[in-house]
Amino acid sequence: MSRDLATELIHHAYAPPPGFDAPQVGVHKASTVIFPSVAALRSRDWRYKSGYTYGLHGTPTTFTLEERIAALEGGTQCTLVPSGLAAVALVDQALLAAGDEVLLPDNVYGPSRELARHELARWGITHRLYDPMDAAALAAMIGPRTRLLWLEAPGSVTMEFPDLPALVAAARARGVTTALDNTWGAGVAFQAFELGIDIVMQALTKFPSGGGDVLMGSVVTRDAALHERLKLTHMHLGLGVAGNDAELVLRSLPSLPLRYAAQDRTGRQLAAWLAARPEVRQLLHPAFEGSPGHAHWRATCSAAAGLFSVMFDERYSALQVDAFVDALELFKMGYSWAGPVSLVVPYDLAAMRGEAAARPAHLRGHLVRFSVGLEAAQDLQADLAQALVVGFGGTA
Ligand SMILES: Cc1ncc(COP(=O)(O)O)c(C=O)c1O
Repeated sequence: MSRDLATELIHHAYAPPPGFDAPQVGVHKASTVIFPSVAALRSRDWRYKSGYTYGLHGTPTTFTLEERIAALEGGTQCTLVPSGLAAVALVDQALLAAGDEVLLPDNVYGPSRELARHELARWGITHRLYDPMDAAALAAMIGPRTRLLWLEAPGSVTMEFPDLPALVAAARARGVTTALDNTWGAGVAFQAFELGIDIVMQALTKFPSGGGDVLMGSVVTRDAALHERLKLTHMHLGLGVAGNDAELVLRSLPSLPLRYAAQDRTGRQLAAWLAARPEVRQLLHPAFEGSPGHAHWRATCSAAAGLFSVMFDERYSALQVDAFVDALELFKMGYSWAGPVSLVVPYDLAAMRGEAAARPAHLRGHLVRFSVGLEAAQDLQADLAQALVVGFGGTA
């Protein structure tokens, strides 16, 4: 019986060529997964990956990426979600209930704080900010309702590197679960699980993707019971990722260590050059002496991301800083980092951390953050030099 073309195109006789064994992972895309029998339908369990059940719960492509990200982080199980922020939300929703409290560092990624302020609050979950540079104060803050401690190393934008082992010890002593936003470390700079951290999330959007063309997040654990809680919430929320996106990350993963090292090298060269400029009051890069938490970075890390901030001196006006940023040509203005293109963002510290008088000494002045891409270091330095002249006068 001949079939209509529409039917033929759907029920195509294609099967992967037998014996096709290539290192590149195939891109599998499906909502429906066909079961060969009722017995198979009843016996497959999406939670334990005993087989494929429905596209939302994984395909060979996403299972492979989960395994590789778990291995990258030194964990055993991974759950993929559609963005880094969704990964934060998944951890919060899986672990917190009405009446619970979550503690966030005062330099936490801004949208994570907004999530707590606006969404968690509506579910009766409270949050407080703690100073990540003061482990003793954190220990004193932990109360009977504290269930979750978020960590970030270094903190977003202001780049203070905390004493992670001391913060983890304070949480463990009180039975509080710890979750690290490891987007900066990317599984390369340090091994978070070795520090006793329970959950490690990452915005795969940054280093693992590396192309600036994918949004994705991961949540990794070493604890099967914790993973099952995360997995159940993941299923209830329907947070699947697309096969094409997973494939892009899989394709970029082999070059992750090379890209991380190259961006680190260029980042340190530019940071050192900027720190020596008279316009710059303070460098915020954890690999440099004089940057807050440098000793903790040295004790914990073998590398640094190509991401840093500088404080331009208070004697300059905000308009001069804006003119400097506007004059940059290779550094493009925009959020995110770890892609091939260098990026720059001037931040409004007053909105983020309060007025100057209330901020720590290293945060006086005008903050500009740089994300170093894969361009040649000398070209980026020349770009900074010409923009400094436009913004602040003087000579390059
Ligand atoms: C430290 C950190 N965590 C999480 C995220 C969120 O990632 P996404 O943009 O994929 O939601 C970002 C994004 O900038 C980030 O910088």
